[in-house]
Amino acid sequence: MAFIDAAQLDKKRVLIRLDLNVPLQDGLIQDDSRIREALPTIKHVLKMNGIPILCSHLGKPKGERNQGLSLQPVAKRLSQLLEREIKMAPDCIGSEVKDLVNRLEPGEVLLLENLRFHSGETKNDKEFSRQLAELGDVFVNDAFGVVHRKHASVVGVVDYAPASYGGFLLKKETEYLRKALLNPDRPFVLIAGGAKVSTKLGVLSNLADKVDRVIVGGAMANTFLKAQGFGTGLSLVEPELQDDALQIMNRTKKNKVSFYFPVDFVTGRDVKASQPSGIHPYQDIPAQDMMLDIGPASHTLFAEALKDAKTVIWNGPMGAFENPVFSQGSFGMAETVAGVQGTTIIGGGDTDSLVHKSGVHESISFISTGGGSFLEFMEGKELPGLKVLGI
Ligand code: 3PG
Repeated sequence: MAFIDAAQLDKKRVLIRLDLNVPLQDGLIQDDSRIREALPTIKHVLKMNGIPILCSHLGKPKGERNQGLSLQPVAKRLSQLLEREIKMAPDCIGSEVKDLVNRLEPGEVLLLENLRFHSGETKNDKEFSRQLAELGDVFVNDAFGVVHRKHASVVGVVDYAPASYGGFLLKKETEYLRKALLNPDRPFVLIAGGAKVSTKLGVLSNLADKVDRVIVGGAMANTFLKAQGFGTGLSLVEPELQDDALQIMNRTKKNKVSFYFPVDFVTGRDVKASQPSGIHPYQDIPAQDMMLDIGPASHTLFAEALKDAKTVIWNGPMGAFENPVFSQGSFGMAETVAGVQGTTIIGGGDTDSLVHKSGVHESISFISTGGGSFLEFMEGKELPGLKVLGI
């Protein structure tokens, strides 16, 4: 199947699955990137004289109506960005919604209420999928963030929709990520950070023999150091994953992939400490401290490993960057990655937020909207939302 630019949309009702799962606090949107990324597909449908009927999930309401997870604030923001009224449906299926849809004219936009207010969504229920599909003459999936979910609006709906396509965001995401995985410009460097090896094990395993260099930072580096017999003080470690860590190191060695660890750490008594305890080489971490950021020598080393990189994939911060005391390593790396003369790809919510906070996001080639879906793509897994569209 194809992408939306191949679809005939004139006067057609186009059901578009988007990922409008934005962070909300007290009803206020904290980051509208996902809404902005949805605009090209919506605008295209309007330009082609089609009628966009938008749907998305928001949070995890677990099959129950929850006013705090209504898409109403998203409708308001979308209407500002599109400079036109967005009609908000009271639900995502049912006779009232069908009537609303049938009264829409080209130029109008309707946003359906949170799909996950119905348990049929996450269960990939057939009847729910059918009722959703009948709201459109054409179905378009442009929600990269959920292509790893076997949900009704991602998978089931395609069985009942008269025609299904991928949207522009799905096209951009899959093109960028596939090029990096299948035909990367080299040297190709993977930067893996964040708290846990367990969440990155699949990515490390899949990429261990595809990349030229691996840089490991964040608390997950602790497990690698512990596995090699170094002291890690009171730092977060996953002892049960030490064998996996050693196996990955051996595999990279066999494949002549260079493995870079932090050589020094900023330590503290705990993650909320108001000042660091000190900077220590990895051989001498104080027993009563936690390793909470990479140190300046590590940053210099990592910058050298990135100097001639032509493709960089980065997922996971270098330390506990939410606390300014332990943020320098992560912000420093954001600037270094932004300065790389090649394709730079960022994935995952924390890294995305880090890069935006550091203000260098404009200098990154591509920031994926996917969290779990980005990781599963990088793990080389088959993603149900792409498979069903033949993408
Ligand atoms: C995300 O935030 O990564 C996507 O919107 C998917 O959300 P989910 O993890 O609740 O399925």
